[in-house]
Amino acid sequence: MAVKSLFLSLLSVLAVVTPLTSASTFTPLRPPAIPLAVRSPYLSTWLNGDSGGILPGSWPRFWADQIVGWQGLIRVDNVAYNWMGDYNGPAHVTQTSFEYTSTQSIFTFDVAGKVTLTATFLSPVHPNDLLLQSLQMSYLQLSVKSADGSAHDVQVYSDVSGEWASPDHSQALNWGNGINNGCAYHRFALANQVELREDADMAKWGMWLFGTDYRTGRFVDNGTLDNSESTTFRAISDSWPVFALAVDLGSVSTGAQEVLYSIGVVQEKVITFQGDSDGLEELAGLWTTHYSIPEDSFAAFHNNWDQELHDAQTLDAKVHNDAFEAGGQDYASLTTLAVRQAFGGLQVAHGTRQDYIFLKEISSDGDIQTVDVIFPAHPIFLYFNPELLKLILDPLFENQESGHYPNPWSIHDLGFFPNADGFPEGNDEAMPVEECGNMIIMTLAYALRSGNTQYLEQHWPLLDQWAQFLVNDSLIPDSQLSTDDFAGRLANQTNLALKGIIGVRAMADVAKYSGTANADVASNTYLQTAQDYISKWQGYGINTASTPPHTTLAYNDNDSHGLLYNIYADRLLGLGLVPDSVYEMQSAFYETIMEDFGIPLDTRHDWTKSDWEIFAAAVASDSVKAEIIERVVKMVEATTSGRPLTDLYDAATGNFPVDGNHFMNRPVVGGFFALLALPK
Ligand SMILES: *[C@@H]1O[C@H](CO)[C@@H](O)[C@H](O)[C@H]1NC(C)=O
Ligand SMILES: *[C@@H]1O[C@H](CO)[C@@H](O)[C@H](O)[C@H]1NC(C)=O
Ligand SMILES: *[C@@H]1O[C@H](CO)[C@@H](O)[C@H](O)[C@H]1NC(C)=O
Ligand SMILES: *[C@@H]1O[C@H](CO)[C@@H](O)[C@H](O)[C@H]1NC(C)=O
Repeated sequence: MAVKSLFLSLLSVLAVVTPLTSASTFTPLRPPAIPLAVRSPYLSTWLNGDSGGILPGSWPRFWADQIVGWQGLIRVDNVAYNWMGDYNGPAHVTQTSFEYTSTQSIFTFDVAGKVTLTATFLSPVHPNDLLLQSLQMSYLQLSVKSADGSAHDVQVYSDVSGEWASPDHSQALNWGNGINNGCAYHRFALANQVELREDADMAKWGMWLFGTDYRTGRFVDNGTLDNSESTTFRAISDSWPVFALAVDLGSVSTGAQEVLYSIGVVQEKVITFQGDSDGLEELAGLWTTHYSIPEDSFAAFHNNWDQELHDAQTLDAKVHNDAFEAGGQDYASLTTLAVRQAFGGLQVAHGTRQDYIFLKEISSDGDIQTVDVIFPAHPIFLYFNPELLKLILDPLFENQESGHYPNPWSIHDLGFFPNADGFPEGNDEAMPVEECGNMIIMTLAYALRSGNTQYLEQHWPLLDQWAQFLVNDSLIPDSQLSTDDFAGRLANQTNLALKGIIGVRAMADVAKYSGTANADVASNTYLQTAQDYISKWQGYGINTASTPPHTTLAYNDNDSHGLLYNIYADRLLGLGLVPDSVYEMQSAFYETIMEDFGIPLDTRHDWTKSDWEIFAAAVASDSVKAEIIERVVKMVEATTSGRPLTDLYDAATGNFPVDGNHFMNRPVVGGFFALLALPK
């Protein structure tokens, strides 16, 4: 078998060849960064854009930019070539194509005109299977076949470095290897494990596993690994130990031969949570309910490839077809790119009362369960399976209903990932109208799509409290932050007020479906209030004198304007609160302020956000919808940011905002599914 950590035995036989040039196609387009292994906040490995989208010649990176050494070599007729990573020596293969789907990144290479190599990085997404979704593991499948009709002698090789385990390269590692259920694997971990803590967004705990199929046979010949293992445990950067797996395919002809690798991290505990217990609970990874040791969960994942590939292809086709039908190829390109990034923000946890899904506000500040990050992301969950949204909302309800939050409005987040410890002092980042509106809208959306109206009854008292706050504060919102907190506080925000008023209107339906005591009276009261507010809101928030008329950024600021993305919830919930004339007015106005890469968020900056662009597009006229989608695609293709897709960018340049935040890899791209989450 082929398990060892000594890199040199293969490389010492390499010939030095002049690098070949690469001219690759990119289908449907070249993302700013290409997802390689993206399953969770901790398994998030990308090929950054400075590679030009070419796999050999650059080190893969963790989303936060740390190098995670992942090398790939192929040896054809005794000559080695590099197909992934930046190991200096062997010639690079020629990348001929790249293609992505919702779950896969597929690279095809020409190897010296002799063989064709395909590397498929598959990160499964399981909206309907929490256990499979909880596994922080990903596949790399290699397929090799003759390109010139002749048979060739082929070996493939891949290794990973200790860099996957920590950004601090002075940290000591320990490691081992074995064979489990036909999976030959390396395992490695930090010697100093610190559970439930991060270092520069990487986990300070857990065991990493890298494996392939165990095979017997031709592994002792030249060009293969010698199965030796260094037992000198040492630091990540101390001679850079790597964990290598090579497979000798022997003679490869025109029939494709395949090799499967799996990579992942396994953690016993995944989240701390302040729920309705007195103290903090440490929640386990869901895998612990099915497997006794990490290696078993890893081998089960590895051996499930056939089913996983089938499931992935089914999901890929569904997303493509639905999106293509709803918004054409540009829209399919966006939704397809969003899937792994959105699900890669999630962590499934097992509690004593129930299972939960936690969400990391990746890159903006690492908060956990941020209500106004869940909100932009939530269309993808409604589309795939509304129960996912419930499992994300549950921790927020449980924390606040058990008396662990003192304010009358909704909490903003539960702490810093992976610690959902709550804010018993109420000193979270206050976004009162924003989060009350978001919680009511998402709770009703979940109940409508799932049919679970009992959920509304269960949470009626808290929903009613938040709605009372909105009745008090939504029509004339005080100076406060909206979700776009990078733009600062402002009083009387027109778009924010609309969210609050839609929240009040939504409560009329929450009351009706909840079957709570005096539901009819409550429902009617909320309805009357919302209708009164929406007519006043039009008076305050619309500049009727300008040509064309439009909503303002803030009341009484006639020269201002803003993207009215909160109007989306009116259609999402089928409320019919906002008159059609307002939708039509905004579409006509957007035509006049469209920049090269989209509509600016408001008149304070040229900044915009791709998630809100698509929210606005979803309820715009057909022509404006198409124009917005086209511009967001243009940003994805043109941005000079080579990092995992941002949501915040400059509408004039398509790049990160100058003097603004550099967001990336945020799960909010789930909002690209806004068109698909609308009622049919
Ligand atoms: C190849 O294998 C033969 C026999 O096992 C050995 O004598 C020779 O040194 C090996 N060559 C290399 C380059 O490893
Ligand atoms: C709403 O305003 C009323 C009257 O000022 C006040 O009594 C009530 O506590 C407020 N409710 C909330 C939830 O803020
Ligand atoms: C907010 O708008 C209302 C209605 O136009 C106005 O009476 C109030 O003065 C405004 N508040 C601020 C702080 O501008
Ligand atoms: C703003 O525009 C409205 C018409 O929409 C007009 O009635 C009002 O006087 C204007 N306010 C200012 C301060 O110019």
